[in-house]
Amino acid sequence: MENQYPHLLNPLVIRGHTLRNRIEFGPTLFAHAIFTIPEIRENVYRMVEDRAKGGAAIVSTGEICVNFEEGIAAFADHPVDYSETSGEDFEILAEYARRIKKHGAAALIEVCHEGAYANVKPPYSPWGPDAFIREDGQNVHSFDRKMMRKVCRDFRLFGSFAAAAGFDGVLLHGGHGFLLQQFVSPRTNHRTDRYGGSVKNRSRFPAMILKALRKGLGPDKIIELRFSATDGLNEPDALTIEDTMAFAREIDGLADIFHVSNGLKSRGNSTGTFSSHYDPHGLNADYAAKIRSVLKHTLVSVIGGINSPELGEEIISAGKADLIALGRQGFADPDFVSKTACGQADLIRRCVRCFHCYPGAAEHPSDVDWNERGLTPDVISRILSPASMGICSLNPDSGFGRVPYDHLPPVLKKNRILIIGGGPAGMQAAITSSKRGHEVTLIEKQEKLGGTVRLFAEADTLKKDYLDFLAVLEKETRASSRVITGFAASAEWISDFAADVTLIATGSRCMDPDRLAGAENLTDIRSAYSDKPSCKSVLILGGGLSACETAVFLADRGCRVTLLLRSRYLARDLFGSERNALLTQMEKRNIGLVFEAHFRAVDPGTVHCVFPGDIEQAFHADILYNAMGSRPEDSLYRDLILSGLKLYTIGDSSRPSGIADAIHGAYARAVSIGV
Ligand SMILES: Cc1cc2nc3c(=O)[nH]c(=O)nc-3n(C[C@H](O)[C@H](O)[C@H](O)COP(=O)(O)O)c2cc1C
Ligand code: SF4
Repeated sequence: MENQYPHLLNPLVIRGHTLRNRIEFGPTLFAHAIFTIPEIRENVYRMVEDRAKGGAAIVSTGEICVNFEEGIAAFADHPVDYSETSGEDFEILAEYARRIKKHGAAALIEVCHEGAYANVKPPYSPWGPDAFIREDGQNVHSFDRKMMRKVCRDFRLFGSFAAAAGFDGVLLHGGHGFLLQQFVSPRTNHRTDRYGGSVKNRSRFPAMILKALRKGLGPDKIIELRFSATDGLNEPDALTIEDTMAFAREIDGLADIFHVSNGLKSRGNSTGTFSSHYDPHGLNADYAAKIRSVLKHTLVSVIGGINSPELGEEIISAGKADLIALGRQGFADPDFVSKTACGQADLIRRCVRCFHCYPGAAEHPSDVDWNERGLTPDVISRILSPASMGICSLNPDSGFGRVPYDHLPPVLKKNRILIIGGGPAGMQAAITSSKRGHEVTLIEKQEKLGGTVRLFAEADTLKKDYLDFLAVLEKETRASSRVITGFAASAEWISDFAADVTLIATGSRCMDPDRLAGAENLTDIRSAYSDKPSCKSVLILGGGLSACETAVFLADRGCRVTLLLRSRYLARDLFGSERNALLTQMEKRNIGLVFEAHFRAVDPGTVHCVFPGDIEQAFHADILYNAMGSRPEDSLYRDLILSGLKLYTIGDSSRPSGIADAIHGAYARAVSIGV
């Protein structure tokens, strides 16, 4: 078989460690969460193990703090004594290395010190390059020589610990605004001593840390330094790519790999720590190329929105980096590398950058913190807990609270399963049921599989990744099940088929507005994608996800778009990074917003509204879209309720929601059959 990815799959040797290709899975869960939430421990191990089994060259743990004093990080409530190289804590961390190395990947443990933004608790205070009072009232102390020596000792000790635990190296998180970046960035370092001023001076303490880590780790282990190419801020003193290139020159050779990310954790996702589907893939690759151009002894790895082997090959063959690092893609498909290597790249579930696996914090100025949304502390801690993270919309076998395939209850009876509807839920149910040994027939009334997702993904170029996902689902479905398209199964036909289990996956439809006079003058929001209107002005009635996304879509096609919302709050179903990304795009396109509009009546081209204070106003546009919500399309289900069939709804025909619920719900239903 011809190797389509000669650069990506080309092995590499670092300090005697043969890396079998150029792909590493980056850190994606605070490593110490396995202490504080022991019930997710096995799943976190399994997650890194799956990535190693899937053929990656390097697999990293998530971050653990270098000390539990001034350098403590969030969720690090269980201090680990790094001078102990035996005992329970040691074995818990060493197990990461064993699981990863067992499958031929190099195992790195990520270590961090968040400097001025550490999550300190009394009696400790945070330490940073400058002294200042943080927004939360914490008094940040400026590092003196003694403090620097203490932190270097901590890194040295951590290095010895990591080596003793069997890791092949350490991934030092110096980026995302953590300690090392705080020293290098002129925005956070205003020192006038030999650790401030020139880039040479600003690099001095980071270089000391790297040397200390090397001393502890020994000469034959790998050091990878994670760093941000820029602060990601449009502020005059923010870290620039030129600063980072100069820093890279200063520390050349002290790390084996310079891992290029971007932005600041403390300033949120809009500084580029994560990308959304509105951003290009591989958005840090050009930064990596610049950094690589000044390095002679240190290799370069790059992370950020890489979800395909084609892009990985392009980056490495163009000399922009020596390795690529995958973050969220590890949740979407841990078999990324093995599929790439054995000619099955078309079966990779490619991350669509939807943020379901990692909500992020309230970031858009109009977002409301979980606490202010009226949620109980219990619910909030569940949502923000590491145990709720890592659940990928596209991969039902993901998430730190998951039940993996190899732990599912055995199938006791093989069933004949009929699935009506070939959207994501129907296809996922078919794939999982077939994998479990059932005999599956899937019927779709359209000629093509994919349901509503196909509608918007085909029309909207920003959603191309969803088309790739549908293609994977379709291939897996056709390979495992009998598929009939272009056939609308009637209730009689389904009854006569008499399957052991019938799953109705017929999707959803637009909600009919209750008692709204003239509602027939509204057009279903979904037809924006099929009709591709060339009109000038559009009014969208509604303010949820589909209203907002369609507004962006139509604005990009030259329409002047205004949203009329009943609520005072836009996109209330969204939170954190996803919401911030979407609302920022709406602002860029000048989408009009009218809040607290109560719809009184609709005429052709006109919506009559009443506002608080009984103020009446009419709005006019070429097209009026109804985006007031969806309801299950479950008429077949209702027609069959008395048929005696064993019948379930899945996906939107059960409860209209996002793709994650469709995939995970369909999977859960499929694994419950025949047990
Ligand atoms: C659930 C989740 C947990 C993460 N945990 C860490 C972590 O422990 N340490 C870290 O440096 N980055 C962490 N990240 C960030 C990723 O390493 C990576 O920088 C980010 O996902 C962007 O890369 P991507 O576009 O390939 O996903 C996490 C990301 C996710 C989605
Ligand atoms: S949940 Fe979304 S962002 Fe996270 S890995 Fe899956 S597709 Fe990517």
